[in-house]
Amino acid sequence: MEVLEAIKARRSIRKYKTDPVDNKTVELVLEAARWAPSWANAQCWRFIVVRDGNIKAELANTLIDNPAYDAIMNAPVVIVACAELEKSGYYQEKPATDKGDWYMFDVALAMQNLVLAAHSLGLATVHVGRFDAKKAARILQVPKGFCVVVMTPLGYPAQERDPRPRKELSEIVFYDKFGLEREVK
Ligand SMILES: Cc1cc2nc3c(=O)[nH]c(=O)nc-3n(C[C@H](O)[C@H](O)[C@H](O)COP(=O)(O)O)c2cc1C
Repeated sequence: MEVLEAIKARRSIRKYKTDPVDNKTVELVLEAARWAPSWANAQCWRFIVVRDGNIKAELANTLIDNPAYDAIMNAPVVIVACAELEKSGYYQEKPATDKGDWYMFDVALAMQNLVLAAHSLGLATVHVGRFDAKKAARILQVPKGFCVVVMTPLGYPAQERDPRPRKELSEIVFYDKFGLEREVK
């Protein structure tokens, strides 16, 4: 599937078939994540592939008032993205910019690669961020120095969704300086 087509046709899916996803297919999407760019190539991301029903249920219960609850509970696979702290955005063990730790950015790049690759293989995903990440870290025995960032169910879609609206380019793109619209010639 062409990249632009995948970007435009991907949807957040919250209803999943119970059909299994084999390990080879899971590896394909993780491979896409692995090839994401990262700060100084630090690759602070780590991924946990969860198939165990009890662990999926425990993870679902970390969600906070979240429409993705059933998806985390019932999809055949849940992928949890973690990050090693104080690597991304750091130079000589100090933050190199006013942004501090850039792990959210690097993990987001990897996860977006992952969800696009999944879509190109006919699989569905949804980035899930609204959950108690500390609780999830305890469930998954994530060690000190790492945190849980985001998770996604992975499986075959049991629903089709219309695209959600996006702002027009004219609302989000400026020219030369913030707030400046393109001069009409
Ligand atoms: C960082 C991030 C966190 C998100 N967290 C959740 C979440 O906790 N639960 C959920 O159902 N959807 C979540 N979403 C999905 C968004 O609601 C969805 O991407 C957005 O509405 C646009 O829809 P689309 O992905 O189908 O284009 C999240 C998306 C992002 C990028």
